[in-house]
Amino acid sequence: MGTVALKHIVKYYGKNLVVNDIDEVIHDGEFVTLLGPSGCGKTTILRMIAGFEKPSSGEIWFDDQLVAGGKTFLPPEKRNIGMVFQSYAVWPHMTVFENTAYPLTIRKLPKEEIRRKVEKTLDLMHLSQYADRTPDQLSGGQQQRVALARALVGEPKLLLLDEPLSNLDAKLRESMRFEIKRIQNELHITVLYVTHDQTEAMSMSDRIIVINKGVRQQEGTPEDIYKHPANPFVADFLGKVDFFRGKAENGSITIPEMKNQTIPYTGEHRGDVYVAVRPENIIFSEGGELSGILEVQYYLGDTANFRVRVGNSLVRVITDGHAYHSVREGDPVRLSIREFIVFPDDGSLEETLQIKT
Ligand SMILES: Nc1ncnc2c1ncn2[C@@H]1O[C@H](COP(=O)(O)OP(=O)(O)OP(=O)(O)O)[C@@H](O)[C@H]1O
Ligand SMILES: [Mg+2]
Repeated sequence: MGTVALKHIVKYYGKNLVVNDIDEVIHDGEFVTLLGPSGCGKTTILRMIAGFEKPSSGEIWFDDQLVAGGKTFLPPEKRNIGMVFQSYAVWPHMTVFENTAYPLTIRKLPKEEIRRKVEKTLDLMHLSQYADRTPDQLSGGQQQRVALARALVGEPKLLLLDEPLSNLDAKLRESMRFEIKRIQNELHITVLYVTHDQTEAMSMSDRIIVINKGVRQQEGTPEDIYKHPANPFVADFLGKVDFFRGKAENGSITIPEMKNQTIPYTGEHRGDVYVAVRPENIIFSEGGELSGILEVQYYLGDTANFRVRVGNSLVRVITDGHAYHSVREGDPVRLSIREFIVFPDDGSLEETLQIKT
């Protein structure tokens, strides 16, 4: 089993609709991430796949076996899934070895087989030297790896990870991202990962499914979603973006809040639109189509960040660090937008992004 199919999954808690018609196939060996804000239903989806919750309607299939749907419901212990929960708990009174062995011990496997499997898993997780320690003698990252070892020891074909790195500091998170990818490659397993952190999602996933309020917004490769977001919510959730209201005509978009300055446009939309611009897609350029005044700049080493007043708008610009000295606060500057995304103005942006105007 390595393929998971979710067929029109709906989940209510009481009257509260928290998962709304999720229809997805996660293929054997794929690394797929559910990405969305807090409360959007990510954990609920994982819990239904693991067998800790029943869908209100819809079906879940593992390869060609129905595991939930209609009258069928397979309990978690019959699903052979590895899972690391959002608040990963390793048992404080057990050693690393015992923690890792636990899923095999309750399955009453022969002692010798348990020892062999645990040693192999600890080796894979670079934990062998800590086998006899208890969790209070480990760092957060090492404890995290114990939780992963325990999820992997039963050799699941499917690994469900619910924000497994949320308790770690930034450096450890980054190295654990590589560890998880490495293990997935070595074991050739299917991983369904849950996070609200876009960097985590983008750095590990073959495919990302963006969810908001229980509804799928878009799915695709990290690059697809970043470059071609399906709606303003997705554009805003992945990466930095500024939105400006404009009027699209054949050849240009006029932006009233920028004192009616225009940007060239040859796309399909006409009339009221939102122009979504990522700050890394704006450059300082003498022949640039927008003119403004540099209000603020700051240096972050790898990047330099700027805020430029264009009419009544503040435009964010991010360049590499070297551009820092090319302009000064108070200077008139010209900007050129290399790439932008246009969405029709259906009046939903404020609600979607909770912007107060
Ligand atoms: N057992 C439950 N009973 C009632 N409501 C629940 C239950 N579990 C979750 N919910 C509600 O369902 C919605 C989705 O919760 P879920 O835990 O799936 O969100 P999430 O996307 O994992 O959020 P987070 O990023 O904060 O972990 C929330 O509104 C939550 O309050
Ligand atoms: Mg959650």
